[in-house]
Amino acid sequence: MKYVFSECVNSFRSSAIRDLMSLATRNDIISFAGGMPGNELLPVEEMRQIAENLTRAEWEEALQYGQTGGNPSFIAELKNWLKKRNFPVEKNELIITTGSLQALNIIGKLFINPNDVVLTENPVFIGGVSAFLSYQAKIVGVDLDSNGIDIQQLTEAVKPARANNYSPLQIKPKLLYIEPNFHNPAGLVYSRERREKLLETMRGTEIPIIEDDAYGELWFDEESLRTSRPMKTWADSEMEQQILYVGSFSKIMSPGMRLAWALVPKQVYDKMSICKQSIDACPPTFSQVFAQKFMESGQMDTYILKIREIYRNRRDYMLAAIEKYFPSQATFVKPQGGFYLWVKMPDGIDEEVLFKKVVEQGAVFVLGAVFHPQAKKNGYIRISYSNTPEEQIEKGIKIIGDCLKELKPES
Ligand SMILES: Cc1ncc(COP(=O)(O)O)c(C=O)c1O
Repeated sequence: MKYVFSECVNSFRSSAIRDLMSLATRNDIISFAGGMPGNELLPVEEMRQIAENLTRAEWEEALQYGQTGGNPSFIAELKNWLKKRNFPVEKNELIITTGSLQALNIIGKLFINPNDVVLTENPVFIGGVSAFLSYQAKIVGVDLDSNGIDIQQLTEAVKPARANNYSPLQIKPKLLYIEPNFHNPAGLVYSRERREKLLETMRGTEIPIIEDDAYGELWFDEESLRTSRPMKTWADSEMEQQILYVGSFSKIMSPGMRLAWALVPKQVYDKMSICKQSIDACPPTFSQVFAQKFMESGQMDTYILKIREIYRNRRDYMLAAIEKYFPSQATFVKPQGGFYLWVKMPDGIDEEVLFKKVVEQGAVFVLGAVFHPQAKKNGYIRISYSNTPEEQIEKGIKIIGDCLKELKPES
């Protein structure tokens, strides 16, 4: 049987990087590769207790189909939580999705025709790119610097969308996808000034801005809390309506529950619900019942306080180990929240050679090419500290540091 796959399947990314990553299969390997919470940090006891206390009616709700947009009582709970954070919940609609990946996928389906341009950051969260590629988008990356997206490049990229610059020969981008808070993989947070410039650049273009805020709650200090306030919460009413905000419970509760949300204008919500109906009928009711209990009891807020501190400690452990073991030419932006360190390789170091060597020695990270919009080698690696207990961080970082020094002894 010869399967004739669709064109969109053929546009999926090459597996060369996946093959390299599959080298890291040893059980005893110290992994800095996973973009996920530490297993030992998951709220197991809290969920066990919730299960024990559910009533018969709640179990029935948990095991039954639910509404496409989410369980009304869970939506009400989440709305309250978002209101406390100044989100414009009255001027928008809230839809629960099966992970934020689903929200990105549905937004892609809503707006992208084959060959449409989607602007993303470079580097970019690969899950977003895959979602857009599945609708045969052309991905155009806009570089990041330590304060966020490059405004000059963005201005150029959106020129065809401005009425007075528009030429029928130019392609008007359909979407802008960004992740201003504690970026995966770049580990940075957009400055307030950069956010304001971004909004001014996008004003009048009528290009929806997807503000992906998967890590927004994981700030490490008061300053990063202030800087990281989502644009959706303070943009003026015109720009606020241009923003499709996507949040997730994956990093603040459990990725396995597959719960996330999108806060979007009603016009977009209506189309999203229709799309969603044919994809999964409803987000997991089981997870929503548990998540609602976790939120309304105040346990989620306590849990977030706890993990914020643990991730900050892990970041500090990692920075101290890097200081000790890495050559000084390996540079990065110090993460103010989130999970990731995005390390620029010293001149002359080939990250793929480094990768093979490090895996042989018993540690693993992710190659920067994974996060390039066109999967190109870029001289970076992503090291995450979220999923590695403190006692293993130093050992693993020493392995990478030793390999770096072996490949390029410091002069
Ligand atoms: C930036 C970003 N957006 C979205 C997601 C997907 O999260 P979810 O588990 O909600 O689908 C991730 C997961 O790593 C992410 O890093």
